[in-house]
Amino acid sequence: MASAPLTATVLTTTHPEPVLSLEHAKKSFGAVHALEDGDIELFGGEVHGLVGENGAGKSTLVKILAGVHRPDGGRLVLDGEDAIFDNAKQSQAAGIAIIFQEPTLFPDLSVAENIFVGMQPLKRFRRIDVRRMRREGPPSSSSSASASTPTAWRAGSLSPTSS
Ligand SMILES: Nc1ncnc2c1ncn2[C@@H]1O[C@H](COP(=O)(O)OP(=O)(O)OP(=O)(O)O)[C@@H](O)[C@H]1O
Ligand SMILES: [Mg+2]
Repeated sequence: MASAPLTATVLTTTHPEPVLSLEHAKKSFGAVHALEDGDIELFGGEVHGLVGENGAGKSTLVKILAGVHRPDGGRLVLDGEDAIFDNAKQSQAAGIAIIFQEPTLFPDLSVAENIFVGMQPLKRFRRIDVRRMRREGPPSSSSSASASTPTAWRAGSLSPTSS
């Protein structure tokens, strides 16, 4: 039987401009030049890998996109306009979501509370709506992930499994 020909799917974008880009970004911590001339262009529908040796500045670049670090120089352009994020809340409001390399878990909070940290749904008198949090996933989560997760469990009671 003849084998099927190999085909490749190329994702193309109709956006003429990147959704998000960083141009000539610089960031130093004292004498340490964490990032020098950092450039990245992100178009809709693309997936990138950011590769470099330890200490190359990958996390620093991502933290600039996330609003965690303010760059010392360079431009951050969002939808064609210069953007400056003073904090992570502002980058989240602009639609940027980051999953960090070393996520912090609060072991004494539930899975749902960990997922919702910083964006908990509120009920009257600004009290956290725990039932809604357990019922729904966060705005960006896939329903399959939230359906299969016992969200009321204490995060510290979970252990990694291999499959
Ligand atoms: N908050 C900080 N204060 C001081 N130095 C920092 C800080 N953050 C990063 N650095 C330094 O900046 C450089 C780049 O660090 P960064 O974490 O961006 O590298 P990385 O490419 O993500 O490395 P890794 O592969 O180890 O995650 C390193 O020398 C690091 O020690
Ligand atoms: Mg890193």
